[in-house]
Amino acid sequence: MQNLFDLIGRLHPLVVHLPIGFILLGLLLIHYVPKNTGAEKVLPYVFFWASIASVASFLTGIIQYLQEGLSLDDVRLHLVFGLLTTLLCMLFYIKLKGATWLEKIAPRWWGWALFVSLVATGHFGGNLTHGEDHLTEPLPTALKTALGISSPPDAPLLIDPEKLEASMWFDDVVQPLLQQKCVSCHNAEKQKGKLALHRLESFQKGGKNGALIDVENPEKSLLWTRIHLPITDKKHMPPKSKTQLSAEEIALLQAWMGIGAPVAKTLAEAAVSPEILQAFYPPTQNHLMRFAELPSPSATVIQNLQNQGLLIAPLFKNSNGLKISAINWNAFTDKDINALASLAKNIVLLDLGNTQITDAVFETLQTFENLVDLKLDHTLVKGNSMEVLEQHAYLESINLVSSAFAVENLSKLYSFQTLEKVFLWDTPAAKEIEKSNLPQDKIQLFDFGEELLPKLPSDGIVY
Ligand code: HEC
Repeated sequence: MQNLFDLIGRLHPLVVHLPIGFILLGLLLIHYVPKNTGAEKVLPYVFFWASIASVASFLTGIIQYLQEGLSLDDVRLHLVFGLLTTLLCMLFYIKLKGATWLEKIAPRWWGWALFVSLVATGHFGGNLTHGEDHLTEPLPTALKTALGISSPPDAPLLIDPEKLEASMWFDDVVQPLLQQKCVSCHNAEKQKGKLALHRLESFQKGGKNGALIDVENPEKSLLWTRIHLPITDKKHMPPKSKTQLSAEEIALLQAWMGIGAPVAKTLAEAAVSPEILQAFYPPTQNHLMRFAELPSPSATVIQNLQNQGLLIAPLFKNSNGLKISAINWNAFTDKDINALASLAKNIVLLDLGNTQITDAVFETLQTFENLVDLKLDHTLVKGNSMEVLEQHAYLESINLVSSAFAVENLSKLYSFQTLEKVFLWDTPAAKEIEKSNLPQDKIQLFDFGEELLPKLPSDGIVY
């Protein structure tokens, strides 16, 4: 019996095409066939069968809904319009058979009402089967943005370190993960293992083996065990053929279950160890996070420097790391940098571009041991004594564009371990460098403002 109902339910997507056919035929007869051709006589017959077919669709739909455990929230609109279409068909049939109380409404209005109701039913039904973005998904991204239809959040999870007080555990962390890796098989329509993961209610309902989370024994949770099974195990989730959860994602879900799988708590309220979240911070903020724990800088010193024209801001909210720029203080000289000495450990991003500094600044810069990004562009810096920065453990980028940087100082930078890029456009070094003399593994380090290709042996051949 159960199987029979299952089968009847599954016939729904097939059966629905019958009323669609009858109704469309009826609409054509109403709108396109000239009067007095006898078409009116066929109409009651068409809408009789349209009514029967609609009722059949409605019933199979209800059976499918009950058999497959869809949630009412997901099917509501489809159901309401399906019922409306069925009722309209029946009423129109009754009218055609001569019911006087429906006389006033002309057939074309019935036609339009049926048309709208039918399209809405089909649309919401389609969304159910194929996902809400079924129709809009193929549109170009620009058009989607213009229409206000955002793409589904299948991008990797990102956590904003500045919004831990506002980010909810389920909506902002767990759901995006499930969306990306699980929902394709566990959604309103496709419920593998009788489990849907596209919204909180269905997550909480669990699958055919019940709830996903065991708050008392998190390690025994269905969710925990399924994601931890060896990938070769048939029950491992997601299945072997699909994109797997990363180690960081597993650690995150595990930590969440470990603190009782809170749903409506924020990341700040129900905290897990910071490293677990850090893996999901946007890349730039992620690598700057290590500067969260610096000693707090003196507010008076900062205030004084700001009064003199330096721009000083925390790297990010609540961080003691600083970004400092002299962009509004062109008269800044080697002497002025001494005023920054007491902030030495806090300075992470420093912009001294377009100032009067010379190589004498390096003596002070040597004490700025947390520097990541240093801008010395449009200055008289030649790079003499630049080697004092070599011990800086985080220095990634130095901008020397349009400075006086000399070619003989280039090799000093070869031994900087953490350095990723040095910008040297429009410098004496860029003009004089014999590019073929650069060590092969350093070519990527320097940006001379033009594509620098390694010399090929064939370059010298004259054809
Ligand atoms: C390619 C389709 C597919 C993807 C993707 C997928 N699953 Fe499944 N899932 C299944 C199938 C099929 C079953 C039923 C068979 C079984 O129990 O292994 C299932 C069953 C489950 C069950 C057991 C439900 C129960 O009550 O028995 C859990 C839990 C589960 N999946 C979690 C997940 C999680 C979490 C993800 C994402 C990380 C995921 N699945 C991704 C196909 C998938």
